[in-house]
Amino acid sequence: MSTEPQTAILKRALVTGGAGGLGREVAVQLASRGCAVGIADINAAGTAETARLVREHGAEAAEIVGDFTLEDAPDAAVQAIVDRWGGIDVLVNNAGYGVIEPFLDASYTSWTRTLALNVTALAMACKAAGRVMRDQRSGRIVNITSPGSRMALPDYTAYTASKAGVDSITRAAAVALAPYGVLVNSLAPGMMDTEMQRSTEIDLARVNGRDDLQAFLDERTSRVPLGRRAEVSEVAGAVVWLCLDAPDYMTAERLNMSGGLDKD
Ligand SMILES: NC(=O)c1ccc[n+]([C@@H]2O[C@H](COP(=O)([O-])OP(=O)(O)OC[C@H]3O[C@@H](n4cnc5c(N)ncnc54)[C@H](O)[C@@H]3O)[C@@H](O)[C@H]2O)c1
Repeated sequence: MSTEPQTAILKRALVTGGAGGLGREVAVQLASRGCAVGIADINAAGTAETARLVREHGAEAAEIVGDFTLEDAPDAAVQAIVDRWGGIDVLVNNAGYGVIEPFLDASYTSWTRTLALNVTALAMACKAAGRVMRDQRSGRIVNITSPGSRMALPDYTAYTASKAGVDSITRAAAVALAPYGVLVNSLAPGMMDTEMQRSTEIDLARVNGRDDLQAFLDERTSRVPLGRRAEVSEVAGAVVWLCLDAPDYMTAERLNMSGGLDKD
């Protein structure tokens, strides 16, 4: 007897970096809307847990575990979705990496690792999914960028430069895929208290000589015009809106979910 859920699949989705944080919440919300969801992440245990949550919502899940920066990984992940479900309707490029390092102490390794995931792998995933979506004449890609892409952050330059790359790739991919009715947009989340954000801010406090971590965090939060950090669930809701509900005429856009932080 088949153990697969009996409900019809609304859309076939791939979420990179889905083992936790924003990616997990996006995967679960897509599942609750009836999508089959592939989760690509380097963290096997986190991927398995997200897949369990997706199935708990009555949806099908595919676990794609591995380092997404390896040359063939984006192609292989997209192919896994096509092999399993016959096509791909939604790609969320959410996997991200960043290191706090004062600009004058920056290492080659940090720069290469950051750009390999946030820029090169993201571009290759857009290309791989874009080719399938071109042939289908439908599909939506959402790239996760950051308010940092438009800021001068000397302790976080590889990351902010990589996210400026995401903005550039989003616009180029949107134009390349527009003739086929495929939409490409990005979303810039504000500060969300995920694993990545927590370790980044601890390191940021350290390089700035701050040992009063909570006061440091409160100061950063107070810079958000809405006066609070973003809930992962509300940011994920906006990602899912771009994936499933945004108008067909919306492409090459950047949606800011930053509580007004990214206002200029
Ligand atoms: N948290 C925030 O405040 C914030 C703000 C702006 C933008 N973002 C962006 O949101 C996205 C999600 O971040 P998050 O805050 O949920 O962090 P997170 O650390 O919870 O998620 C990142 C995921 O990427 C995966 N990953 C890292 N390296 C990988 C690799 N080489 N191959 C495959 N997977 C890999 C991690 O295992 C993790 O599951 C990122 O693109 C991040 O830059 C986050």
